[in-house]
Amino acid sequence: MFLVTGATGSLGRRIVRQLREQDSSVRAFVRLYSNYGELEDRGAEVFIGDLTEARDIAKATRDIEYVISCHGSGKDAQAVDYRANIDLIDHAIANNVKHFVFISVLGVDRGYQAPTFKAKREVEKYLMASGLNYTILRPTGFANNLLPLAERFRDTGLYLLIGDNQNRSSIVSTDDLAKIAIASVTNSSAQNQVFAVGGAEVLTREDIPRIFAEVFQREPIILNPPLFLFDGLRSGIGLINPQLEQSLGTLRTLLAHEFYCTTEEITRLESTFNLKMESVRSFIQRYLGSGLSTANE
Ligand SMILES: NC(=O)c1ccc[n+]([C@@H]2O[C@H](COP(=O)([O-])OP(=O)(O)OC[C@H]3O[C@@H](n4cnc5c(N)ncnc54)[C@H](OP(=O)(O)O)[C@@H]3O)[C@@H](O)[C@H]2O)c1
Repeated sequence: MFLVTGATGSLGRRIVRQLREQDSSVRAFVRLYSNYGELEDRGAEVFIGDLTEARDIAKATRDIEYVISCHGSGKDAQAVDYRANIDLIDHAIANNVKHFVFISVLGVDRGYQAPTFKAKREVEKYLMASGLNYTILRPTGFANNLLPLAERFRDTGLYLLIGDNQNRSSIVSTDDLAKIAIASVTNSSAQNQVFAVGGAEVLTREDIPRIFAEVFQREPIILNPPLFLFDGLRSGIGLINPQLEQSLGTLRTLLAHEFYCTTEEITRLESTFNLKMESVRSFIQRYLGSGLSTANE
């Protein structure tokens, strides 16, 4: 039995889908008000709880062999990105869990002060020292984040690009990442390893609207405000809502820096997991190529 946290998220729902496609038992940790009907329909055992409640984590980890931790905090890095993962690890040890997969983030070891990055780094350290079998995956940005932008582009030609248009990234197919997370628990070469996880190519920010333009056959209209405008807006928000300003710090870190994998990192990933990472173009075409809509993806 797998326990998947963040099972209603972009990555988590893909992991649950793929596990059920291969007929594996999966307990999906979800919140009551979230949209978990699809997971239930696919035959996942739905566990309703809140990751900020240690007793829910204690219950959810009973009779579990594998944990895939892929929840995200949005706002509360201390309680959700940090504490919930520490509790999951402690209960995984107590329940003799065979393998723990933790979804971290690329650049977690660069000393960024954004709360999510700090929390993930501390969780990584705790997991490595825990004695559990683990795999830590450090992904770049997920390709599904591009789907709403691609849909808007398809309808209007507009693309909003904040900050330096030459910043590089290697956006990863969220479906490939789900595959890798699942394979990590049985792949002996992934035992107690850390992997950078990126897509097939290193792209500059301005490559994205170029790819959209090719896929949808229309001229892009690129709006490119500088990063200081975002900073000004964020400071303004801070006057009204300091917590939101702090959580926007993670987005600020993502906008201001480059997050791409080296050729060596992608080669290691592809050879360990025996797959070819998907390109952004292929991902967009697969989801939107025939005029499909992407609600909930
Ligand atoms: N998205 C990216 O580009 C990216 C890049 C690198 C790393 N990552 C990491 O990858 C992981 C997955 O990201 P994602 O984009 O798939 O996340 P997401 O779509 O934002 O989903 C977050 C998930 O966490 C759940 N969650 C949040 N707080 C919870 C709580 N208190 N109790 C129970 N569940 C809670 C949410 O449940 P609800 O449905 O109830 O809200 C949702 O299922 C995260 O750890 C993220 O930091 C993401």
